[in-house]
Amino acid sequence: MDDDADFPTDADADQFRIETRSIHAGQEPDEETGALMTPIHANSTYEQDAPGEHRGYEYSRTGNPTRSDLEANLASLENAEYGRAFASGMASINTVLNLLDSGDHVVTGNDVYGGTHRIFTQVYENYDIEFTFVDMTDLDAIDAAFQENTELLWLETPTNPLMSIVDIAGAADIAHDHDALCAIDNTFATPYLQQPLDLGADIVSHSLTKYLGGHSDVVGGALLTNDEELDERFGFYQNAVGATPGPFESFLVLRGTKTLPVRMDRHCENARAIAEWLDDHPAVDRVYFPGLESHPGHEIASEQMADFGGMLSFELDASLEEASEVVSNTEVFTLAESLGGVESLIEQPAPMTHATIPREERIDAGLTDGLVRVSVGIEHVDDLINDLEQAIDGALE
Ligand SMILES: Cc1ncc(COP(=O)(O)O)c(C=O)c1O
Repeated sequence: MDDDADFPTDADADQFRIETRSIHAGQEPDEETGALMTPIHANSTYEQDAPGEHRGYEYSRTGNPTRSDLEANLASLENAEYGRAFASGMASINTVLNLLDSGDHVVTGNDVYGGTHRIFTQVYENYDIEFTFVDMTDLDAIDAAFQENTELLWLETPTNPLMSIVDIAGAADIAHDHDALCAIDNTFATPYLQQPLDLGADIVSHSLTKYLGGHSDVVGGALLTNDEELDERFGFYQNAVGATPGPFESFLVLRGTKTLPVRMDRHCENARAIAEWLDDHPAVDRVYFPGLESHPGHEIASEQMADFGGMLSFELDASLEEASEVVSNTEVFTLAESLGGVESLIEQPAPMTHATIPREERIDAGLTDGLVRVSVGIEHVDDLINDLEQAIDGALE
């Protein structure tokens, strides 16, 4: 590598693959000490050389060197020109919504993350912003939902917990035909598996809390874009609203992204093996995993994703109580919400992540009482399968 290169935030970065960029992008050894790792700049304010003359940083809500390295690293991973980090995934979603004005309309999915649904309907509807929730796997339904005042198409793919796959390029084209922005929450796939800006999206949003952090020890968010004007507005909201991550959080995510490719390879490999095993299990009615050919989104996922991810759900032929017993029986899988860490997690959407949805509505949406969701970790796959086997057999025998 050329020592003088501003690696890899300059144009030459294109020559490096994501496995290399995840480790190096945005980070240079410290000039003074040679320290390899970006320091945790625990610092709120910065000396100015003259009034109004600073060296790039004046106050840490506005900008912090540890955060800057993280932002450059994340931008590189998403093939984006610009990146902005936030205090949580919700803070980054909120920042995209800050772009809207009263009277605007948003088209979005009927199975977006519950917190996203909550901020749409319980915060932004109060400011006279209107939302239409549609089945995002149906491009005609997306198109039909647009109105004169639609400014934003917001989508997730794969979705939670049924792992529905949305055709990103098709959806982005529709948004642009209507002069609207297309924003994608890429938390489930990660930039290692899916790069929505390359497929036509305008904005990528992340909960860094999940795979990018990767170790269940940090909460964070990010927005990536190739549009300078949008990036400037995101920077304005970082400073004006103040939902930015501290240097320690930024450091933890930077450490996490270094191993993103190797972790994701193992997540994907384990998830595929578990999905196939569950698919053959007599107590399992259905497996939701885009890597299975039987999954309705398999073909699109094969085209737009490098692999199928570490998340899957399965429907047990069981009552709510029996399924609760299964998820309580596991020893390696931890009963917990969230996802994307190195450890495997198991949860039952009906009484946990999706408990706020009325039962009938929930079942109509395919979220049955016996549905179980797992975030497949990077433990040995045999231990994971054995654990699921004893948990299912113990509860349903
Ligand atoms: C897809 C998705 N987007 C956004 C969020 C919100 O992120 P955070 O918890 O970091 O605020 C979550 C959290 O579970 C999520 O699953």
